[in-house]
Amino acid sequence: MIRLCFVCLGNICRSPIAKAVMREQVQNAALGNQVEVDAAGTSSEHLGSPPDWRARSAGVRHGFMVDGRARQFTKADWDRFDYILAMDSTNLRHLTRQAPSKHALGKLHLLRSFDASSLPGASVPDPYYGGDAGFDEVVSICERACSDLLQHLRKVHRL
Ligand code: 4NP
Repeated sequence: MIRLCFVCLGNICRSPIAKAVMREQVQNAALGNQVEVDAAGTSSEHLGSPPDWRARSAGVRHGFMVDGRARQFTKADWDRFDYILAMDSTNLRHLTRQAPSKHALGKLHLLRSFDASSLPGASVPDPYYGGDAGFDEVVSICERACSDLLQHLRKVHRL
C-alpha cells in the first residue's frame, strides 16, 4: 500500500479537495487497494470541522464528495505516509522545519511539483478569502496535479 497525505493550512479547503480528487482518480484506475489517501492541516485552528461549504459545493459541481473532519498533521504521520504533499510553499516550509529526519524529509513534496504543466515552486492558491471561482480553480489544479502524480506512482511503484 502506498499512502499519500495532502497537507494545507486549515485542512478544510485545499487538502480535502485534493484528497477527494485523488480518491476519485485512484478508484477510476482500480487502484483503491494499492493507494490510500488522507489529508491534514499544519494548523490546529479548525480541528474537527467539516470541509468549508464552498469546498463541498465545488465537489458537488465537479461530481465528487469532499468530506472528512479537520485534523492537524502529527509526528506519527511522518512514519505513516510515503508521500506528504504540501499544497503551498508556506505549508512546505512549516513541514520542512518539523521533519524528524532526512528520510522523512525525502517524503515531502509540493503537490504541484508533480504537475508537468506548472512552473517550479508553484502552489495551490489559498481560496479561503476569495469566492467560488477560487475553489473551481483549486479543483482544476488538483485534477492536473493528481493525474500526473498518479502517473508518477504507476511508473515508480509499477502499479
Ligand atoms: P486551507 O484553507 O488551508 O486550504 O484549508 C484555509 C482555511 C482556513 C484559513 C486559511 C486557509 N484560515 O485562515 O482560517
